Amino acid sequence: MTNIILCGGSGTRLWPISRTLMPKQFVKLFNGKSLFRLTLERNRSSCQKSFIVSSDQQYLLAQDQTQETPLLDDAAISYLLEPAARNTAPAIALACMALDKEEIVLVTPSDHLIKNEKEYQVVLERAKKAAKKDSLVTFGIKPTFAQTGFGYIEADGEDVKAFHEKPDLQRAKEYLRAGNYYWNSGMFCFKAGVFLKELQKYSPEIYNSSLQAFKNATLTTSKALASLANIITIKQDDMLKIPENSIDYAVMEKSSKVKVIRSDIGWSDVGSFDALYEELPKDENGNTINEKYVQIDSKNNLIYGDERKIATVDIEDLIIVDTGDALLISKKGSSQKVKEVVQKLRQDS
Ligand code: GDD
Ligand code: MG
Repeated sequence: MTNIILCGGSGTRLWPISRTLMPKQFVKLFNGKSLFRLTLERNRSSCQKSFIVSSDQQYLLAQDQTQETPLLDDAAISYLLEPAARNTAPAIALACMALDKEEIVLVTPSDHLIKNEKEYQVVLERAKKAAKKDSLVTFGIKPTFAQTGFGYIEADGEDVKAFHEKPDLQRAKEYLRAGNYYWNSGMFCFKAGVFLKELQKYSPEIYNSSLQAFKNATLTTSKALASLANIITIKQDDMLKIPENSIDYAVMEKSSKVKVIRSDIGWSDVGSFDALYEELPKDENGNTINEKYVQIDSKNNLIYGDERKIATVDIEDLIIVDTGDALLISKKGSSQKVKEVVQKLRQDS
């Protein structure tokens, strides 16, 4: 099995930790390890090869971190570099075009956390079996609230009645109540050739322009350090001709080959500081553990910062993120709005 790792996102909801030049998947948030590195390590036993799809900027960060990852065979890592982001359908299609049609791929984002790794391996085995039978396998997470930023899978056992990407709040609430809807985790498992056929059927423009871009791509072998990685670079003109769309809208909402495997794997997309707070270790007062932090009568705060001392007095339920050039202070529960800060900063600059 080949692990296609998607590294294209910039994760604006974790500003100022996550920046254009250092997106959240590369920030060492968990015991000195990044979400990208945790992804590599988690899939190392089930996938003999990793295929990292990213921009040319992010590729350098990825390469640094693959070299920090022990027991990883450099020769088993390939990169596909996109000179422009066209969302996940083209990213996955281009990687699949480089593989044997029969190869089973496990597509994973690079910025998610999975706490129950044992169950994850069990779930992967089931996914692989279904993929061998030509299914497009999704991993269903039991929803806990009416999140509108996810895809919802309407399930009947492993069969999928419908896939609903990013519903409005009212529909998300209905799906939550219904009981047979799962969040789409954003991971997928299928044969490269089966995915490409479905893409060709339902989104032929993406398929055709991606194929053209793939045919014109250049293949090099990296000479950096010990790495022998193959690098496929798409030409910018070709990339810009590919329509932008996600795999969810381009294929998953339309295909009848979609299956779902219920995955109780301790999954989080770490999509906001509120989600990050839940995942970080905390002290007896519910404050995240930080050497630089001094608190008096303060509870349940997320404190991030590794340069200056941070002190709080009588403060509860705050998010305080201090970096070299920016400071964020937010109420817990409001951290989804951090992306509006980034939009505002971009407008103003
Ligand atoms: N290489 C590459 N190129 N990667 C990309 C690109 C791109 O153009 N666009 C996005 N990615 C990566 C992101 O970095 C992330 O790891 C993953 O693909 C998914 O993209 P998101 O932009 O984060 O998607 P989403 O969160 O809106 O929705 C997806 O994930 C949800 C779960 O987190 C969907 O699959 C939803 O259905 C799902 O519920
Ligand atoms: Mg996401």
